[in-house]
Amino acid sequence: MAAKPRVLSGIQPTGGIHIGNYLGAIRNWVAQQDQYDNLFCIVDLHAMTLPYDAQTLRARTLELASVLLAAGIDPARSVLFVQSDVREHTELCWILGTLATVGELRRMTQFKEKSKGNERVGAGILFYPVLQAADILLYDAAYVPVGEDQKQHIELTRDLAIRFNHTFGETFVIPEPDIKPTGARIMSLTNPLKKMSKSDPDPDSRIELRDPPDVIRRKIRRAVTDSETVIRYDEEHKPAISNLLTIYSLFADIPIPELEQRYAGKGYGEFKRDLAEVIIEKLTPLQARLAEYDAHPERVIAILTEGAARARELAAAKMAVVRERCGLGLPRLESLTISPLQTALSSQ
Ligand code: TYM
Repeated sequence: MAAKPRVLSGIQPTGGIHIGNYLGAIRNWVAQQDQYDNLFCIVDLHAMTLPYDAQTLRARTLELASVLLAAGIDPARSVLFVQSDVREHTELCWILGTLATVGELRRMTQFKEKSKGNERVGAGILFYPVLQAADILLYDAAYVPVGEDQKQHIELTRDLAIRFNHTFGETFVIPEPDIKPTGARIMSLTNPLKKMSKSDPDPDSRIELRDPPDVIRRKIRRAVTDSETVIRYDEEHKPAISNLLTIYSLFADIPIPELEQRYAGKGYGEFKRDLAEVIIEKLTPLQARLAEYDAHPERVIAILTEGAARARELAAAKMAVVRERCGLGLPRLESLTISPLQTALSSQ
């Protein structure tokens, strides 16, 4: 049987995983587990690029692993690991960084957003996408399932892989982004022109996977809507209700046109009440599994330890090839035309 194509994706342990992360990425990782050979990485090194607290980062890394497992990542079918447990990520990041240009890194949307208005911009923010490229290329991933906001980073990854292959010979697989037509850009509940984000200071802007039912009901009730009261999908003129329709459709697995029909002539109030219940229905079993993992951190740590061991095996094999291609390290004795022994003998 032919080997399944490899998939790799990552997520930052920066707190409050929300339904945007879930609908845009995690849910697809879970659904496609049988189709691919999967690696999922908790990218703690990426989370260091903005000011953070060491104890909190470590706690969030474990917390995020529990969320991913509760969401359905199955350690029997997917390798789940923590990025900093596999040193090869940082090594390959350095090598790829020598091929990237400062100009292209400064043009990344994320760099522009995160550095805007800041006098002191950490160099980690500039290097962020190079580390992401290393995450992907290290494992020969063919597909990278992500939300829309990661598209530019995958394009840079492809460029760096092509550049490396061109300079040093065919080494890396050129990965494809796997971005779904629906759900790849879930918007904020308080401002439908901004994407839902972990870093938004307003917690009402997002629904977190750990939010209890009452909080979900309140946040949906308070979600902004558009001026006219018709429930119709129209991203340009009705961005708020279009976003809520997308969320409803993905959680309930009902196509958007069917929802439009179902709510024809009905008001936002009824629609929102139903939407909150649909979300709660999906998150309740996830939260029950999460409570199990929270109560048994040793299980989560064992899964991550095993995941790291498997990832390290793959990464070490790939880096041996990369080092060889780049001319790093000492030459192998058998590759020398005159061995040190021969040299010693001939001078006698
Ligand atoms: P992160 O942690 O910001 O987000 C994790 C995943 O969630 C998706 N996402 C969304 N999807 C839809 N709507 C939203 N509002 C929304 N917000 C977030 C993201 O697109 C992402 O797929 N740079 C990455 C982490 C990373 C990575 C990698 C990803 C590091 N190395 C290698 C893929 C492959 C990030 O910041 O994700």
